[in-house]
Amino acid sequence: MNAQGRTKLNQTPEWAALGKHREEFGDTHLRRLFADAPDRGTAYTLRVGDLHIDYSKHLVTGETLRLLRDLAAATGVAELRDAMFRGEKINTTEDRAVLHTALRAPRDAVIEVDGENVVPAVHAVLDKMAAFADRVRAGEWTGHTGKPVKNIVNIGIGGSDLGPAMAYEVLRSFTDRSLTVRFVSNVDGADLHEAVRDLDPAETLFIVASKTFTTIETITNATSARDWLLTELRAGQEAVAKHFVALSTNADKVTDFGIDTANMFEFWDWVGGRYSYDSAIGLSLMIAIGPERFREMLDGFHLVDEHFRTAPAEENAPLLLGLLGVWYGHFFDAQSHAVLPYSHYLSKFTAYLQQLDMESNGKSVDRQGDPVEWQTGPVVWGTPGTNGQHAYYQLIHQGTKVIPADFIGFAAPVQDLLPGLIAQHDLLMANFFAQTQALAFGKTPEEVRAEGVPEELVPHKTFLGNHPTTTILADRLTPSVLGQLIALYEHKVFVQGAVWNIDSFDQWGVELGKVLAKKIEPVLTEGTGGEQLDSSTAALVSAYRSLRGR
Ligand code: F6P
Repeated sequence: MNAQGRTKLNQTPEWAALGKHREEFGDTHLRRLFADAPDRGTAYTLRVGDLHIDYSKHLVTGETLRLLRDLAAATGVAELRDAMFRGEKINTTEDRAVLHTALRAPRDAVIEVDGENVVPAVHAVLDKMAAFADRVRAGEWTGHTGKPVKNIVNIGIGGSDLGPAMAYEVLRSFTDRSLTVRFVSNVDGADLHEAVRDLDPAETLFIVASKTFTTIETITNATSARDWLLTELRAGQEAVAKHFVALSTNADKVTDFGIDTANMFEFWDWVGGRYSYDSAIGLSLMIAIGPERFREMLDGFHLVDEHFRTAPAEENAPLLLGLLGVWYGHFFDAQSHAVLPYSHYLSKFTAYLQQLDMESNGKSVDRQGDPVEWQTGPVVWGTPGTNGQHAYYQLIHQGTKVIPADFIGFAAPVQDLLPGLIAQHDLLMANFFAQTQALAFGKTPEEVRAEGVPEELVPHKTFLGNHPTTTILADRLTPSVLGQLIALYEHKVFVQGAVWNIDSFDQWGVELGKVLAKKIEPVLTEGTGGEQLDSSTAALVSAYRSLRGR
């Protein structure tokens, strides 16, 4: 029991049953599991919308899956899910509802927070975004000098950057290629410098994206962007209205910055930053791909929301993927989870998932504030194949670590590849299928010897296999499929947080660094207050100051 009388996860009978099952499972090999059940490759699959999900290459049997579902039932995953969809304040440490699902709910849905239906406001903002995006795309939004805006620079960080930046890359082939769209996040001035150095300020629109409108990186970059623009245009404050819009929940701070609230696109405190890119935070993306495509993407999210909310446990993909992560994290001591997309357009996908997963589930106390005694969120990492194959896959194949991995691929290449390049897609996908096959089944010493390999090299050329993977295959990478994929991961993360009994929707862990940076800055610039620093930081700060000639 924890202090609040809730049975701790590792004291439940379901956890104990999984522990016993793990012992019995031992080092059962995927070769054996496939030999025992020849239909495993078709039986252990799920279909959700356009996503074909193959989980046959996991270290599980039907019994494992049953025990994991029992654990989900015992830990109240479905109840918490229903509470989330109902708009209850399940983010208890911030006393907030968690309603990113309302952002993609249909117009006639009714979802209440504090007795008020939030869906009309969601659609009002989407409509306002669409009208604005259409004006920009039609060349009707003109800047201070009367030139149409052609360059869009989104300034934001974390959830106010990663979502639209990732989705812009993913959906590049759906974007208006006559627009230049860039994303600035880092407080390192190099980021803004590189983003604007070749742009005509008269044709540039800055979108300042910040839920709180207090994030130091974003406000600093936005202030520098404003200085650049006004200096280059030799204009006064009146030019700001034509070149800056804000995406925020904080109208007062937006006004303080000098942006007219008529040019503000609103969202709400029940949208977490890392769950926000289908809110107003997606404005840059909507301008790039157009409102219709953006709505297709929202429909993709909604499809998976409905699947998660209604599908029975046996067929519920986010539930299954979440539970597999619980299985490996605690019972196989897996520390990380690789996401390996076989699509160049998904180059920022894993970086996006890092915030989604690690900021949500990187917690070490439970909802009641007691220390957890089990693994929580994994380190999420990965880059697109095939590049990774020539870099770090060696460690996944022959290293000593358990690294469950997701492989994501598409049957058809994106629509506007040069014709000569379309043939390359089969080679890409041959690698995609080969990798999960090699990881699962490996190569035995006998197989290596049969190839005439000298005995002393046999251990080096042997692949133990038994590395678990999920394969997600879709027809093609469309806005809807992107929405489906993101919602799948959002709900997977939710499931894990629910089982682990942690608050997946706060992020107190980022605060300390922010506070300390504020204290250190005057030490760097003015040289005062250094005596309060620890000896390591004090020496580093002093070295920095002397290198800067201070
Ligand atoms: O890094 C912490 C964090 O609060 C994230 O959760 C959030 O996405 C990011 O900062 C940006 O916050 P804001 O949108 O308020 O500028």
